[in-house]
Amino acid sequence: MIGRLNHVAIAVPDLEKAARTYRETLGARVSAPADEPDHGVTVVFVELPNTKIELLHPLGPNSPIAKFLERNPDGGMHHLCYEVEDIIAARDKLKAAGARVLGDGEPKIGAHGKPVLFLHPKDFVATLVEIEQV
Ligand code: CO
Repeated sequence: MIGRLNHVAIAVPDLEKAARTYRETLGARVSAPADEPDHGVTVVFVELPNTKIELLHPLGPNSPIAKFLERNPDGGMHHLCYEVEDIIAARDKLKAAGARVLGDGEPKIGAHGKPVLFLHPKDFVATLVEIEQV
C-alpha cells in the first residue's frame, strides 16, 4: 500500500545550526526556513536525490514539536512520511486493521499542500508515521 518515502522529519532545537550542518558539512541543497503556522512549525527542506529531510522547529505556543523537544532536548527523528495513492482508502484499510489514526481521522493539508494523516507510533514499530496522498 505505501509507496515512496516522501520525507524524514527531524525535530531540531536550533534550526540555523541544523540547516548549516546539512548545507555545509553534508553538502546538501537546503531551503530557506518557511513558517507554517497551521502546523505550528518552521521548516527547512533538505532536497536529496531520492527523498527529502525536513528540519522542524516549534512555531507558536501550541506547536506539536515543543513537547517532543522537551523530552528530547537535542532533537531527533520525529516522523517518517510515506506516499499513498488514495489517503481515504489507506486510512480505512489501516483502521480496519486496528491501527490508530491521530486527531479526528480526517486528512489535513500538509506542508506540501497535499492531504496527510498521522498514525500512532505504538502501532508502527515505535515510529510516528505520516501518510501523504500524492
Ligand atoms: Co511530515
